[in-house]
Amino acid sequence: MCGIVGYIGHRDAAGLLLNGLRRLEYRGYDSAGIAVLNGGLKMFKQKGSVDELRRSLHDAGNPLNGATIGIGHTRWATHGDPSDRNAHPHVSSDGRIALIHNGIIENYPAIKKELISKGVHFSSDTDSEVLVHLIESIWSDNPGMALEAAVRSALYHVEGAYGLCVISEREPDSIVVARKGSPLVIGIGEGEYYIASDAAPIVEHTKKVVYLADGEMAVVTRNDGFAIKTIENIAREKHVSELEFELAEIEKGGFEHFMLKEIFEQPKVLQDVMRGRVRLDEGQVRLGGIEDYLDRLKLSSRVIICACGTSWHAGLIGEYLIEEFARIPVEVDYASEFRYRNPVITRDDVVIVISQSGETADTLAALRLAREKGALVMGICNVVGSTIARETLCGIYTHAGPEVGVASTKAFTAQVTVLYLLALTLGKGRTMSRNELKLYLKELNGIPEKVERILKQNDLILEIAKNYKDAGNFLYLGRGYNFPVALEGALKLKEISYIHAEGYPAAEMKHGPIALIDQDMPVIFIATRDNSYAKVLSNIEEVRSRKGKVIAIANHGDDEIGRLADHVIYIPPASAPVTPLLSVIPLQLLSYHIATLRGCNVDRPRNLAKSVTVE
Ligand code: F6R
Repeated sequence: MCGIVGYIGHRDAAGLLLNGLRRLEYRGYDSAGIAVLNGGLKMFKQKGSVDELRRSLHDAGNPLNGATIGIGHTRWATHGDPSDRNAHPHVSSDGRIALIHNGIIENYPAIKKELISKGVHFSSDTDSEVLVHLIESIWSDNPGMALEAAVRSALYHVEGAYGLCVISEREPDSIVVARKGSPLVIGIGEGEYYIASDAAPIVEHTKKVVYLADGEMAVVTRNDGFAIKTIENIAREKHVSELEFELAEIEKGGFEHFMLKEIFEQPKVLQDVMRGRVRLDEGQVRLGGIEDYLDRLKLSSRVIICACGTSWHAGLIGEYLIEEFARIPVEVDYASEFRYRNPVITRDDVVIVISQSGETADTLAALRLAREKGALVMGICNVVGSTIARETLCGIYTHAGPEVGVASTKAFTAQVTVLYLLALTLGKGRTMSRNELKLYLKELNGIPEKVERILKQNDLILEIAKNYKDAGNFLYLGRGYNFPVALEGALKLKEISYIHAEGYPAAEMKHGPIALIDQDMPVIFIATRDNSYAKVLSNIEEVRSRKGKVIAIANHGDDEIGRLADHVIYIPPASAPVTPLLSVIPLQLLSYHIATLRGCNVDRPRNLAKSVTVE
């Protein structure tokens, strides 16, 4: 959701904060602002991007320069439209306290009402602003109190989620931060400290970080470092972690967009997922993060997969894989539905939560519910050290590297690869011999090179995209393992190009969606040669006879489909369980090109945020 940065040290804070906000912009990008302490509190904020903020600051003569402490925020609107007044930081009535907040204060109407009755004037429509006025009000009633105590006291009144930073003229050498539900990381430099919603703005300065846990606060000071306590004021000893990625991984590396770079990274990502885990010659898979729980995992009576969005699509493929390879029944649920429908969960169940960011609010809530009910909860996460990664009993990292483009691409294929390895691991010795396992691993091992070959067709896919950039709707159809791929293709297109798109199991078409087919309806068929191939061909005929335009994803050597479809994108043949790793690639590229041809900002699509830390 929103991005938070803070800095205290000996360098120019404003420049560092702007740079940090740029790296966090994928979390939210409707407005941005900075507050610094330099003699007094100075603040600058406005609607628009971080670059626009940088330009405005420059045009105004860089009024924030020279400070060595400050906080910055990039917003994804929840309460109040994107506007100058709703941008963060929010400042107290006396202009001496500034606050930035990520999350939602659920009981803000009641707090606001009470503050208004005391004469407080509000300058925004946000829920966040209540916090700064509440802190001011507590502080003015208790003038001797430290800022930390005033923030703590304010947080006692608050229901909801927050990651927040507060600075004040009255304590010009400290930043108070707190977390409940929205992530915060502290970076430890040489005589300087960084605070951020995630490690992206920190990694270029230091690799040493401390992750705040839910319910923790920290006071970060210029001379005395930082002290972490719970919100209930109990001191906490924290482990200093080492960041495992490099700055280059979060830069564009010559590509026009992060999304394109991340699509092209996939051959390497898939190798990274397998590295150190797959021993081809021995037919062995070693998943260190679940080793201690393997027996229990294999004995589970049911697997429930919970996730959101693209991760949920990966979960659907996981269902097919685990049922096929391990013969354990699997259910896949939207985390947001699972958490509220009083699900039946037993101690014999395994709940797998899948999340790229490891911070998605609904997925985290599903995890906590499953844990409460006694299920074994396992995570599949990309962001190392994320909340979901830390709260699950065991798990597997996807090792896709930082994913900056808002539309998920490489994280998806990494998740599917992890699920493939997991399914094989669960199946080994249960339903699958070592020789079978070897064959499946060999097949997987050949996938990165096949992805590479598909990526070489980028120019052809661009040409196809030109024909459809003005379409108003799209249908995506696939069966079996390609059904979740159809859903993912449709999601990719709608989120970055704003074209309406639906994914369906191909056979469902005649139960309703066929009514939509006419000459203006492009239909994407994923028609690889598997056991439903002939049936998908019949579906293509049905669309053609109603004059729909057909774009097919088919296997090399399939001449028949060339006669039926308007356009064909060929992918190398592969067995059905690994096919999603191939068939999704042209769909990612097609969405990318259609969106860029329409002039859309693919890395930062409207209304979206990379990490959905609110419900
Ligand atoms: C789509 C997309 C979202 C996320 C969803 C879950 O491209 O990025 O649908 O997949 O918000 O996010 P994570 O995986 O971080 O839990």
